Amino acid sequence: MLIAPSILAADFSNLGAALAAIGNADEVHLDVMDGHFVPNLTFGPPLIASLRKHTELPFDAHLMVTNAETCFQDYIRAGVTRLTFHVEAVSHLDSLIHATKSAGIEVGIALNPTTPLTVLEQVLPMLDLVLLMSVNPGFGGQKFIPYVMDKIARLRRIIDDLDAATRPRISVDGGVTAANIAEISRAGADMVVAGSAVFGAPEGCSHAIRHLKQLCAA
Ligand code: DX5
Ligand code: ZN
Repeated sequence: MLIAPSILAADFSNLGAALAAIGNADEVHLDVMDGHFVPNLTFGPPLIASLRKHTELPFDAHLMVTNAETCFQDYIRAGVTRLTFHVEAVSHLDSLIHATKSAGIEVGIALNPTTPLTVLEQVLPMLDLVLLMSVNPGFGGQKFIPYVMDKIARLRRIIDDLDAATRPRISVDGGVTAANIAEISRAGADMVVAGSAVFGAPEGCSHAIRHLKQLCAA
């Protein structure tokens, strides 16, 4: 299981230290919120560009914004490894995927909890990642929505039917904890985003990351 800590749950006054604390993670999850697509506001390209100098880990920018089609180049210039777009916020998905990939950047597509998997039908083989939201996006520390577990399993079956070379990873975002990560893994996720479960762990971030991985290996 790959672990992508979300710095949304870190101390914003000390993000350099937050990155140093998650050196054993697989990538960094950057929750970009615009106050329109979601009710919360976080950060954008300048902050991501600053963070880029503090770690070698890949960066995934989860764009919870209404204007991804006009601003995605700014995130590429800031140094992201992958851009994850919300299907609910993009009008011309095919164009956006191609423009992003032509820039040499990986593409992920995020689905809100109630958005059906059928929206992925045409684009699935073009993607590097599908991000299944297991909370309503906007805030960290929410509870995992139980019906998403079955959605993970259904997406796993659909992806396993694709050619091996075109299979995107499945990542699950929201409410992931030590209590549910094993079940999420069994349902077929390759990666989880974890905010509170990493940055809120009393035993420290790197221990929490190791523990979450162990729970899936068991
Ligand atoms: C929710 C964000 C998530 C969130 C995860 O809108 O996309 O990445 O920060 O935080 P936890 O793990 O605390 O649910
Ligand atoms: Zn996220």
